Amino acid sequence: MARILTGVQSTGVPHLGNLLGAILPAVELSKREENETFLFIANMHTLTSVKDAEQIREYTYSVAATWLACGFDTEKNVFYRQSDVPEVTELTWYLNCFTPLPMLQNAHSFKDKADRVEKVNAGLFTYPVLMAADILLYDAEIVPVGKDQKQHLEITRDIAGSINHQYGKDIFVLPEAKLDEKVMIVPGIDGQKMSKSYGNYINIFLEDKPLRKNVMKIVTDSTPMEEPKDPDSCNVYRLYKLVSSEEQAQSMRQNYLNGGYGYGHAKQELYEQLLRKFQSIREAYWGYMEDRESLDKALMIGAEKARTVASETLRRARETFGY
Ligand code: ADP
Ligand code: TRP
Repeated sequence: MARILTGVQSTGVPHLGNLLGAILPAVELSKREENETFLFIANMHTLTSVKDAEQIREYTYSVAATWLACGFDTEKNVFYRQSDVPEVTELTWYLNCFTPLPMLQNAHSFKDKADRVEKVNAGLFTYPVLMAADILLYDAEIVPVGKDQKQHLEITRDIAGSINHQYGKDIFVLPEAKLDEKVMIVPGIDGQKMSKSYGNYINIFLEDKPLRKNVMKIVTDSTPMEEPKDPDSCNVYRLYKLVSSEEQAQSMRQNYLNGGYGYGHAKQELYEQLLRKFQSIREAYWGYMEDRESLDKALMIGAEKARTVASETLRRARETFGY
């Protein structure tokens, strides 16, 4: 059985790009018999940038509700909030004491901001060490991450390898990053990569009317309705293709090429397809968001399972370091 672990930041309500590009594929992976997945909401990392308590709480619930609504099985797997396992902060301290300062100075996440260091808090600087603790605390073997997180995995391996070497024993498991090269890039309503930071996302958890409005905002060119259109350069078609069957996509494609079919028609079809495809996920999401108790319960059961593993690793670490 391979132990897979990954963390997701809670910086907003997950959008269509997050769902198609990350959450749904990860849920599929976690269903495999041979995998045991630890999935947690990295809500302590969030404090490096978000200082509003209400936002931290709400986004944590929203991310949790999304994963559950997408079918993440919390019985087979371990699903928890980072902040519910305080063991991680103790391990972070130990790891800090073995982390060479230049390694953190060279981390891309810090380097990008190094020109305005006066605005960088120490939490942001040691962000990779908390991430290393997230991973090492659970003896994770495989960590699926995007390319931007690859360096953090290398830092984790360096810290773990150096401690194992200094003490002459295998205290920590060295994790492997699993980079998915062929992940799809979901375009946003303006054609750039869909992202929270560009404000170009589709929020499928909106109620019907605002969702329709969100879809109608997709940017198109000004080809008149009667004229044939190029489906491949159109954001509406590109999005439709990602959420529809091959036949449906083929049929919309033909409509574009034939002419007499406007972007408004295509947007309406996309909107209706989103309603169909995500109906059960939307309903489950709203159900969880209205029932915080059940979310808390699922997360607390997960935290307990996580703490059982965490306390054993911490025992090993304390003994090694002389406590
Ligand atoms: P955002 O860019 O909106 O802040 P995050 O960086 O929080 O999104 O990404 C969370 C996860 O969703 C990552 O695994 C990332 O690869 C995936 N993801 C984000 N945007 C897209 C997109 N447009 N297409 C595919 N996957 C995406
Ligand atoms: N830093 C990761 C991100 O921004 C989130 C994260 C925190 C994480 N701890 C982790 C991912 C541990 C994998 C493993 O996406």
